[in-house]
Amino acid sequence: MIQHAHVAIRQPEYRVTTPTPFESLSSKIENRTARVGVVGLGYVGLPLALRFASVGFPVLGLDIDQAKVDALSRGASYIEHIRADAVAAAVAKGFKATTDFSAAETVDALIICVPTPLNEYREPDLSFVIGTIEAVLPYLHPRQLVSLESTTYPGTTEEELMPRMEARGLKIGRDAFLCFSPEREDPGNPEFKTHDIPKICGGVTKACLELGVALYGQVIRTVVPVSSTRVAEMTKLLENIHRAVNIGLVNEMKIICDRMDIDVHEVIRAAATKPFGFVPYFPGPGLGGHCIPIDPFYLTWKARAFGVHTRFIELAGEINSSMPHWVVGKIGDALNERGRAIRGSRIVVLGIAYKKNVDDTRESPGVELMSILHDRGATVDYSDPHVPMFPKMRRHHFDLRSVAVTPASIAAYDVVLIATNHDAFDYALIKEHAKLIVDTRGVYPRGDNNVVKA
Ligand SMILES: NC(=O)c1ccc[n+]([C@@H]2O[C@H](COP(=O)([O-])OP(=O)(O)OC[C@H]3O[C@@H](n4cnc5c(N)ncnc54)[C@H](O)[C@@H]3O)[C@@H](O)[C@H]2O)c1
Repeated sequence: MIQHAHVAIRQPEYRVTTPTPFESLSSKIENRTARVGVVGLGYVGLPLALRFASVGFPVLGLDIDQAKVDALSRGASYIEHIRADAVAAAVAKGFKATTDFSAAETVDALIICVPTPLNEYREPDLSFVIGTIEAVLPYLHPRQLVSLESTTYPGTTEEELMPRMEARGLKIGRDAFLCFSPEREDPGNPEFKTHDIPKICGGVTKACLELGVALYGQVIRTVVPVSSTRVAEMTKLLENIHRAVNIGLVNEMKIICDRMDIDVHEVIRAAATKPFGFVPYFPGPGLGGHCIPIDPFYLTWKARAFGVHTRFIELAGEINSSMPHWVVGKIGDALNERGRAIRGSRIVVLGIAYKKNVDDTRESPGVELMSILHDRGATVDYSDPHVPMFPKMRRHHFDLRSVAVTPASIAAYDVVLIATNHDAFDYALIKEHAKLIVDTRGVYPRGDNNVVKA
């Protein structure tokens, strides 16, 4: 008789576990169902929002500017180098923009890209960052990741954002997550697209870092993790201070070369043939844009609390901010040699965007030059194919439209001042018809009798 052994059949154990906030966010990020909110749809926030939308994430844009929200919702772009069809494609994929901050409740990740300017005392103005976190705070809840991208001093994320989130009852690193990941946009540079530029990320905790790296890793080819949010904040400042200091150095070299009758651009081009240990920076009429003239002073301010005086930053700032006045001095000298004065002269400034081929006029030295020349009694116009109307600015007001560059218009000015060397200008035409060109960008070689380098 065959005895059947008694075989106990073991039932599989079913255990129902709720995923932890970390697990739930990780899997939403991995399968691209995480809803990404971007606060501040400007030069930094908009390309990032479009990038997340393009790879399939549901994206919500938040901004306080109703006009921008309306334009983006229609599929239009308000930034020259961001194509309307990219916005329209994102809208078709579900990208929405709103001024209603209660919508922050619906997102899984919230990326903050708001301005970080200086106040009138040239100290950090964090009011936009703090205003943003306070506006979204009532709507934050567990299972969300917050990432700050605005350039700022080391400590901002942990000293300003973290305590506010904790006071709301969120436990950073356990049920909500916080990181800092600085932006590295180079507007108008077609060589680098958002996804090709390696991105630094630091988290308040290891879990925060892992989620930050996972999120950005979905849209950026290389994410570089660093050990803390403070390292990430300081890295961005080092990058911009490096530029500010080196531009200060070449601007000083320009003044020395001018006295010695040497062409500084020729010198820099020659030095740049060295295949190691030299990085070319080019002089100009002064610093511009939202980053290089401003960010270094975030560190200056913070360093003071540690008893450190940031001498390189101050010196570069001093040299760079004196450049518009130095250029005006060169204009005065050139006019004087022709028996004229700045007062009563007609001057056209070419290029009021802060750098070539973009439409951004923030902190632009071209605008600063217009103001100084106007104050000295010149009649000032401007020409900029990227800026058809003089924009609304806090410190400068001109009721002007861009003048077309034609043989007749150029010939009518006593001085044509090249402040920004846009590719769209016809430099041969300008050279042929201008009475006097003051060239701050090294467009023309030395030795032409109607060209003064400044
Ligand atoms: N522009 C660049 O090339 C660049 C590069 C790297 C880093 N950054 C940094 O990125 C940050 C943003 O700069 P940007 O150039 O994109 O500025 P931006 O002015 O182009 O855009 C900021 C956007 O934020 C909106 N905004 C202002 N306050 C707000 C608030 N309280 N809530 C919501 N939205 C608000 C504005 O309407 C605007 O659309 C700054 O810290 C800047 O230093 C800029």
